[in-house]
Amino acid sequence: MDRRYSFYKLTAFAILLYILYVIATHFILDPGAEAFLQHKVDIEHELKPQIWLTVMYIHVGFACLAIASGFINFSARTYETHRRFHRVNGYVYVSSVLIVILTSGYMAPYATGGKISSIGFNLLNILWLFLTSTALVQIFQKRVLQHRRWMIRSFAFCFTNLFIHLLTFVFHQMIGIAYVTSYTLGLYSTILLVLLIPEVLIRMGKPLQTYPHPREKQRPHV
Ligand code: HEM
Repeated sequence: MDRRYSFYKLTAFAILLYILYVIATHFILDPGAEAFLQHKVDIEHELKPQIWLTVMYIHVGFACLAIASGFINFSARTYETHRRFHRVNGYVYVSSVLIVILTSGYMAPYATGGKISSIGFNLLNILWLFLTSTALVQIFQKRVLQHRRWMIRSFAFCFTNLFIHLLTFVFHQMIGIAYVTSYTLGLYSTILLVLLIPEVLIRMGKPLQTYPHPREKQRPHV
């Protein structure tokens, strides 16, 4: 079996597991986000739990949609043989990103870690909007190679929450730093990671070109 095809399937499986994990944790196991909200002891703005939770559900739902639609569009087969689907799915991705950004904008002032974390989240919002709209402008100008590169940069932001929690775990549980400080450190380290990882992938060549269509092999791509 083609190695890149196997890699695509493996990545798809990992992404599916992650989406299922996010849905299970936030909609079924801890729908009131009690584990997360218990750390919000020192925030400046008074949080209205019901509104925050509703916004968080919308945020998580569209975040999962952004991850799924974004990943599917990296498949060269989808792009080559189902152009219309690629375009429609691309708009699903961009709309989902916009909703995640808007909901993030609401939640940022209440972020764990206070003002310094709020600034970090707002920075992420601005960067994600910039990267995603640049990817869109590139394809409007028919610059496929540049479009793919900017989409890789944009898609990396889909792993923000995963990185924040992994790094918070490392700082808090493994190094022993207080949870709130660990969360803020996790957030800022995540900003660096989601900016750096795509650059490494792009320089490695053919990043996320995981499912090559036979005709695609004869063409130069990213
Ligand atoms: C696309 C993948 C993402 C997923 C699956 C996701 C998921 C979540 C979840 C489950 C929460 C609730 C708190 C928690 O348990 O962590 C949350 C909070 C939040 N997310 Fe996201 N998120 C994603 C991307 C983003 C991005 C890219 C941003 C910023 C541009 C963002 C901004 C926020 C903010 C500001 C909060 C509130 C944090 C706090 O209260 O401390 N999220 N997200």
